[in-house]
Amino acid sequence: MTELAPEEKTGSAARRAKGVFIRAYGCQMNVYDAERMAALLRPLGYNEVNAPDAADLIILNTCHIREKAAEKVYSDIGRLKPLKEAREKAGGRMLIAVAGCIAQAEGGEIIARAPSVDMVVGPQAYHRLPEMLARAARGAGEILETEFAVEEKFDALPALTEARGPAAFLTIQEGCDKFCSFCVVPYTRGAEVSRPAQAILAEAEGLARLGVREITLLGQNVNAWRGAPVAGFGSEITSRPDGSWGLGQLCRALSRLAGIERLRFTTSHPRDMDDDLIDALGSVEKLMPYLHLPVQSGADRILKAMNRGHTAADYKALAARIRAARPDIALSSDFIVGFPGETDEDFEATLRLIAEVRYASAYSFKFSRRPGTPAAVMVGQTAESVKEERLHRLQAIIERQRQDFAEAQNGRALPVLFEKKGRHPGQLIGRSPYLQSVHATAPESMLGSIVPVRISGATPNALAGELVEGPMKASARAV
Ligand code: SAH
Ligand code: SF4
Ligand code: F3S
Repeated sequence: MTELAPEEKTGSAARRAKGVFIRAYGCQMNVYDAERMAALLRPLGYNEVNAPDAADLIILNTCHIREKAAEKVYSDIGRLKPLKEAREKAGGRMLIAVAGCIAQAEGGEIIARAPSVDMVVGPQAYHRLPEMLARAARGAGEILETEFAVEEKFDALPALTEARGPAAFLTIQEGCDKFCSFCVVPYTRGAEVSRPAQAILAEAEGLARLGVREITLLGQNVNAWRGAPVAGFGSEITSRPDGSWGLGQLCRALSRLAGIERLRFTTSHPRDMDDDLIDALGSVEKLMPYLHLPVQSGADRILKAMNRGHTAADYKALAARIRAARPDIALSSDFIVGFPGETDEDFEATLRLIAEVRYASAYSFKFSRRPGTPAAVMVGQTAESVKEERLHRLQAIIERQRQDFAEAQNGRALPVLFEKKGRHPGQLIGRSPYLQSVHATAPESMLGSIVPVRISGATPNALAGELVEGPMKASARAV
């Protein structure tokens, strides 16, 4: 790498091959953005490398959701510092950019705390990266871009030219207007913005052409997506009373695209789960029977203090309606334990909700005080030891439910989309309709295909199975 450095001074830097290492932390939206950044930088001569020491540019696409997530980034920056210094000593250059939600939340403070960082770019300013790099090459001092203009970002980021596999993410909505009292997302990602249906359909068609078979639609509040109807889908897709489309209509439209066999979406807010979307879950064959529907707590007092806008009973009734439409649906959730003021009784109410709803999987977190959020300064902060104990109890119950769900698949033939090679020779890894990882012995030619697999066992992280002979309907429903 170092021998290339003198070229940088000659001004031909934009043309020679350089390495960019991008690391995404946090949610899938950061993964999607990281792929777009890579596509944006490729015409500037940056090829993706998979280790930081081979890179001329390092982009950390960060997450601010919990203190631990943020601290991890700072310790990673600390580890990069000697690499950068060694490069400079050898006469070369390594730029470090901090992108994502920490960039938005902390801005210039990052450079004050970590002087090895050269630029800070917020989630809505990625399209400005080329210009920022040019400024960095001129040595233009502190470089900071954290403006909110989501639509501009999507218009300006290039489409992918190659797929990373048969399953891809597609961001359709960004930002959040819900202001849950514990959460930084409304401040880091801004207000809820939906991308136009036309742009989403075009991007999905492009992905299908690249061999993508499964698309996961992304948004911090994906089911708050709204858009103008797109002509050409006939009267079968009826608009909402106000003439717009919601996520249900969008899924119906996407399900018409040739090549796309499976659709998923995440993350949904219980308040935005409308009848049409529930109907779509029941009737759109390509929509997979898996729904991440975070509840956070099962205690009404806490849900109120969290500003979630629903009660435990609302959520349970919603889960029942979804199950009535799609009986085999796998539900998943997020939980926060130790929210300020959470009593033993409140926590027991959460455990009761879990027992009643029954989840196929769930994520759970100890409440983390995030600067600037109302909950960070609420009275009655919960002791760390209590959070710890509650988290263990909750996770044990969730793990039991996950195992029960996995064991219930034993002996069933599930359609599996094979995505990659496994660790053992001859093994492929794919996903069941319920998002479980499935391992099976299968020929490489089946990568990218949806194939029936008879489930024969379960390990903590995956299901094991054998190929089923004979044809099977490729899409959604298990047999
Ligand atoms: N938009 C999604 C998820 C956003 S963040 C939703 O509304 O559910 C992902 C998860 O992180 C949240 O669901 C929540 O469980 C958790 N989380 C967010 N802020 C947190 C905090 N301050 N402490 C602990 N967990 C938090
Ligand atoms: Fe955060 Fe609540 Fe918005 Fe989800 S809905 S992103 S938890 S504020
Ligand atoms: Fe984290 Fe930002 Fe996603 S805070 S969870 S990266 S929206």
